[in-house]
Amino acid sequence: MDVVILPTAADVGAHAADLVAAHIARKPDTVLGVATGSSPVGIYRELARRQQEGALDLGGIRCFALDEYVGLPPGHPGSYATFLEREVARPFRLPRSRVRLPDGRAGDLERACEDYERAIAEAGGIDLQILGIGTNGHIGFNEPVSSLSSRTRVKALSAQTRTDNARFFADDEEVPTHCVTQGLGTILEARQVVLVAQGERKASAVAAAVEGPVSSMCPASVLQFHRRATVVLDEPAAGGLA
Ligand code: F6R
Repeated sequence: MDVVILPTAADVGAHAADLVAAHIARKPDTVLGVATGSSPVGIYRELARRQQEGALDLGGIRCFALDEYVGLPPGHPGSYATFLEREVARPFRLPRSRVRLPDGRAGDLERACEDYERAIAEAGGIDLQILGIGTNGHIGFNEPVSSLSSRTRVKALSAQTRTDNARFFADDEEVPTHCVTQGLGTILEARQVVLVAQGERKASAVAAAVEGPVSSMCPASVLQFHRRATVVLDEPAAGGLA
């Protein structure tokens, strides 16, 4: 696992964007795994800016989301479909068909999970997966004690995650209780992984992921098994490292 520590959150976004852009330059039809939430926004804005300036062509990529909430109506402002439309599809000028998410509204969620795994496989697998990390060490919505070899499935969100994500909803009650998430086994199959974390509130989860034992208590620690994982941190997020 490579760990890169940079002074500011803006530096984290720019450095991670360099890694993604280098991949796309080598492979214009890159299959990109896209995290949602606050952490990757700087990467997406930087990539969109580079395309705007003519330094990068994002037109050939396809994107797969890590996760989606269960049960939110179409167009809900807190849904990851809405997030990816706003932060990825529109700024990258990608047709909606090139940005896929698990179907959190499917009648048969188990089947939707299988369909999602199949769609990723049919796309040739994920070339580069962008990740954030939860304050409890989750990646995707693989909460503590997730199976280290899990596949895309329905998960209950932990109380900690529901509290952390309440900022994206009108009130606490509105935060969904369940999600569909790629599993840790799914994430480990990505050919390259770039995890970004900013801010002191991520410091203990980052330390457990990078320096702790590999344990389902800190799901991100499974990335210690990945052959090509880069963790890009600002100084506050790196504050718990030895
Ligand atoms: C998002 C995701 C989550 C977030 C994590 C950090 O698709 O799967 O693992 O990356 O909860 O969220 P932020 O970046 O909002 O702190």
